[in-house]
Amino acid sequence: MERIANRASEATAVAVLREGYWDRTELIRLPDGSLRVRKASQSARTGPWSLVALRREIRYLQSLSGQVAGYFPKLLAAWDEGGRAGYEMSYIDDSRDVGAIAQSGQIDQSQADLFQDALGRVIFDLVHTPARPDQALSAHVKETMFGVLAELESQERLSPLIAAGAILVNGQRLSGTRLAAQRICERAGMLSSLDDGPCVRLHGDCFLENILLPARATDQDWPQRLTLLDPVSVAGVDRGHPMFDLVKYESYATGELLALRSGKVQVEGFDRPTENCYLYRLRTDEPTIQPFVRIDWGGRFRAAYVRKYGPVNLRAYHLLEGYFALVMALCTRGLQREARLLRATIALNAAVE
Ligand SMILES: Nc1ncnc2c1ncn2[C@@H]1O[C@H](COP(=O)(O)OP(=O)(O)O)[C@@H](O)[C@H]1O
Ligand SMILES: [Mg+2]
Repeated sequence: MERIANRASEATAVAVLREGYWDRTELIRLPDGSLRVRKASQSARTGPWSLVALRREIRYLQSLSGQVAGYFPKLLAAWDEGGRAGYEMSYIDDSRDVGAIAQSGQIDQSQADLFQDALGRVIFDLVHTPARPDQALSAHVKETMFGVLAELESQERLSPLIAAGAILVNGQRLSGTRLAAQRICERAGMLSSLDDGPCVRLHGDCFLENILLPARATDQDWPQRLTLLDPVSVAGVDRGHPMFDLVKYESYATGELLALRSGKVQVEGFDRPTENCYLYRLRTDEPTIQPFVRIDWGGRFRAAYVRKYGPVNLRAYHLLEGYFALVMALCTRGLQREARLLRATIALNAAVE
């Protein structure tokens, strides 16, 4: 393994690329004029998974070798001292993340298909190689679901939904969040289905904003010239069932994740806790969400998944959707938190329907 610097370089910040949940990602310039990207933990912002996830991200990038390494930026420095961690990587110049490209609407279906075919090859054939689990995915999902629920239940506006026996969501009779999670645990084989099938190295945070393409379409093949960024999930998962990457990818490809993050979602019921009656609707007619309705960003990627791993186990799929929504409910506030908790409740119910 190549040696890399074990401290941050002397550099000036050129731009903040992203204020993440726990980290900041910046474009920096070194004294010799070269550019790099630095991602570092923020001392003021700590969360349940902050350092764990960043450490695993460094471990992940350090461990890459062979053909797959060529699809990620090159790791140039990494440090972890005194409760602060960070790393520097090569800057992919003149690129744009595919989330921004998708939102701009400046891509047609055939280009989106080419992109998905290339992504399918990189993720399912190169990234997904056999891995030894740190912890069974089922154990992580169970622990996280109930941990998040315990944390959120202390909030007055959220506890009625979590603790309810029966609720109505969009006119459908469902169980409250905790009861749905308990039913999942009680159903034989349900949680353990996450450990069936191969345990692979995942991307972990596989969605369009963590993939770069050249900023300009120079030739027919440009949708295939992708770079992957930002591996490892918010809660530190980087290995497990291959479906983990599919569920994450599709949550954004459908426009839902963007709608949730930008408040383009209608949520009702938290103001009337005694009624146990909720509404959850994505505002898919909003101009920012429309590009995801007009272009199918997911079909070809899913087809590649099915070719490699066989049909999608729908119950396990919904369980992972619920898990992701709960993790993100803990990381967010206000309307977004309520929307994510409601989304988790719908998904966990669907898993045991
Ligand atoms: N090496 C890089 N070269 C060019 N742009 C980058 C690079 N790394 C990150 N970016 C840009 O910064 C954004 C945030 O970086 P990312 O690692 O995904 O942070 P976060 O964990 O906060 O999502 C990316 O979506 C991308 O647009
Ligand atoms: Mg990212």
